[in-house]
Amino acid sequence: MWHTLAFNLTLAFVLVAALALGAVGLISWSSTRAQFTGFVQDRARDRIVTQVQGYVEATGSVAGFRPLPGEGRGPTHGARPQGAMDRGSFVVLDPSRRAVYALPDLPAGTVLTGERAAAAVPVEVNGQLAGYVAPTGVAPSLDPQSERFLARTTGAILWAMLGAALVAVLLGVLLARMLLAPMRNLRRGIRGMQRGEAPGEAPRARVDEFGEVLTAFYEMHGAVVRNQRAQRELTANVAHDLNTPLSVIGGTLEGMLDGTFRVTPERLARLQRETRHVSGLVGDLRFLSLADAGELNLDLREENLNLIVNDAVGSVRDAASRSGVALHVTVPEGALGVTLDARQVTRVLRNLLDNALAYTPEGGRVHVTVRRDDDVAVFSVEDTGVGIDVGKLPFVFDRLYRADEARVTGGSGLGLTIVRSVVEAHGGHVAIESTPGVGTTVTVALPLVARKIRHEQRSRSVS
Ligand SMILES: Nc1ncnc2c1ncn2[C@@H]1O[C@H](COP(=O)(O)OP(=O)(O)OP(=O)(O)O)[C@@H](O)[C@H]1O
Ligand SMILES: [Mg+2]
Repeated sequence: MWHTLAFNLTLAFVLVAALALGAVGLISWSSTRAQFTGFVQDRARDRIVTQVQGYVEATGSVAGFRPLPGEGRGPTHGARPQGAMDRGSFVVLDPSRRAVYALPDLPAGTVLTGERAAAAVPVEVNGQLAGYVAPTGVAPSLDPQSERFLARTTGAILWAMLGAALVAVLLGVLLARMLLAPMRNLRRGIRGMQRGEAPGEAPRARVDEFGEVLTAFYEMHGAVVRNQRAQRELTANVAHDLNTPLSVIGGTLEGMLDGTFRVTPERLARLQRETRHVSGLVGDLRFLSLADAGELNLDLREENLNLIVNDAVGSVRDAASRSGVALHVTVPEGALGVTLDARQVTRVLRNLLDNALAYTPEGGRVHVTVRRDDDVAVFSVEDTGVGIDVGKLPFVFDRLYRADEARVTGGSGLGLTIVRSVVEAHGGHVAIESTPGVGTTVTVALPLVARKIRHEQRSRSVS
């Protein structure tokens, strides 16, 4: 508890409050006392002035005046010289500022000078200066009533300070609790994450630094859980995708061995197809893991993109005509030099073309376009196929994701993931647009990087 932030924060609040309260208390106590003493002194002076005036009216001068005993007297220190008065708060002077009676430090008849003389108050009787009353520098002693008043005031100040100190402690505890609430939420969240729980509803965090940390933590927790789930799904999908062809291969081979199935060229061809499918899938996964590790060693050379596109389109032309899909290509005139790995970019094009042909029914159209946009080469594969639902579009680049859950096309869902990996490895980017029932367009932008070839951007349509 002594090492907790809550305790230390509370302690800091209380210490600051105590210091402030102490200072305020001390100042108000000493100012009350000073003002009260001043007030008592003024009263004592007024009384002695009244006595002097009464005396002068009766006798005609201040000569022989003595203050009434106990009036405005201070304590007597040490032995008093013969005939000297108690050392009171005031001394009476005649009009020529001579002391009317003796004090321990002021023999009678001495002219008073200096600070005390400057503070002397003239006493007038019937408009005539009768003498002066000067302070002796001794504070008047307080009567018991005044002492009680001062004690009560001091007590009230102390009680007020104590009350304020208690409020400061309470406020300190409350403030520390409020400030540290996101910390407690964060601790709970971290414990939940350690136990492998899904992130709960993010608490409505305050808009301060602690709140930002808490929000960032909840977002991170959500991302971690999503990643873990994606990893698990990936493993399950890989297992499933490998299991199907392997069980076909295993079953067929078993049947052939025990004589249930005859060994026919069709059966052998099917075995070969399934084996190719498995090795293709394993190859794709290996390719992606290399890409993830940043170990895709691209063989970059300056190539004519127009040629690469034409070659790729040419290789699927037969398949397109077999499935009754019209295939068009539009490339800019001349050569479009781009620094790229020809084998990998061909792989990208083949994947996009395979998708376009696989998802475009008979009578449809696939159009490949190449153009140059400043310092990027852009190619797109547009089809008039079945399209992809808007809700599924953000996931098509995820590995093993297939928008058609029935998996009728027999694809493994790695094609577009590979497309993105290769394109990004070239420093480019890929985007997909689709309208269900209308068609899909995948656009790839690759930086030219190498020497830019100046040529007219006039397009030429090749069908
Ligand atoms: N041109 C397209 N038209 C309609 N749907 C498409 C198109 N291209 C991709 N898709 C959808 O996106 C999914 C992911 O495509 P991807 O190429 O990654 O996988 P696949 O074609 O199913 O399998 P693979 O390419 O690994 O053999 C496809 O399953 C399909 O549902
Ligand atoms: Mg594909």
